[in-house]
Amino acid sequence: MSTLEVHGMSAGYGRAAVIHDIDLRVDPGQVVVILGANGAGKTTTMRALSGEVPVSGSITFGGRSIANLRPDQIARLGIRAVPQGRGTLTSLTVRENLLVGASCRADSEVEADIARWMDAFPALARRADQPAGTLSGGEQQMLALARALLGRPQLLLCDEPSLGLAPVIVRDLFSFLSTVNAETGTSLLLVEQNANLALNLASFVYLLEVGYIVESGPTSDFVNSDAIRRAYLGM
Ligand SMILES: Nc1ncnc2c1ncn2[C@@H]1O[C@H](COP(=O)(O)OP(=O)(O)O)[C@@H](O)[C@H]1O
Ligand SMILES: [Mg+2]
Repeated sequence: MSTLEVHGMSAGYGRAAVIHDIDLRVDPGQVVVILGANGAGKTTTMRALSGEVPVSGSITFGGRSIANLRPDQIARLGIRAVPQGRGTLTSLTVRENLLVGASCRADSEVEADIARWMDAFPALARRADQPAGTLSGGEQQMLALARALLGRPQLLLCDEPSLGLAPVIVRDLFSFLSTVNAETGTSLLLVEQNANLALNLASFVYLLEVGYIVESGPTSDFVNSDAIRRAYLGM
């Protein structure tokens, strides 16, 4: 059974649909990327999947319908989102942010998980008791990611994690995403402007153009592809 299966999904703001009749699927442990130009509807797609905008069509997660559930219900079922722009709680400390990520867990391994992700991101450990708002952009992105992982999701939605970060930090971030995927088996649905980075990590690609999926296929089909240039440059 696939982890996430989407059929005929449309979504938007008010009456105007921004994404139209989308089909997409993420299998267990798979890394899938959505590529597309600015304004194509990538963020809206992610928000539709995490319950933040109303949708029509069908979305199932582990075989169960999740269309139009509330964001907290969807999170509880095992989908965590790292939104575009990070969304850390800036007045809470790093540690408090991580605890918020674990708030729906009742098991006894929360502290061990916090230690694990702080180990992976030493900057978070050093700043554990500082307000998240005092972190650099890269550190906040790591925190947003670690907080999402504290929910032990089966599916992680990551919207342009590299946006505004220095290349060296982006490299660390992508290598971390790859490690998380390999070690925890968490499926990953990624939106990324940097096609080269995304194609290195993902095994399957969807191209979104003004709200429509215009092409999809295994990553190998897209290396040096004209379709990618078209999706970004509209030519
Ligand atoms: N909150 C909103 N209200 C109304 N329209 C929006 C809102 N957010 C995005 N849009 C519109 O939806 C379209 C897709 O935006 P978005 O999903 O953010 O694209 P992308 O993430 O691919 O850049 C754009 O035309 C944008 O102007
Ligand atoms: Mg976006």
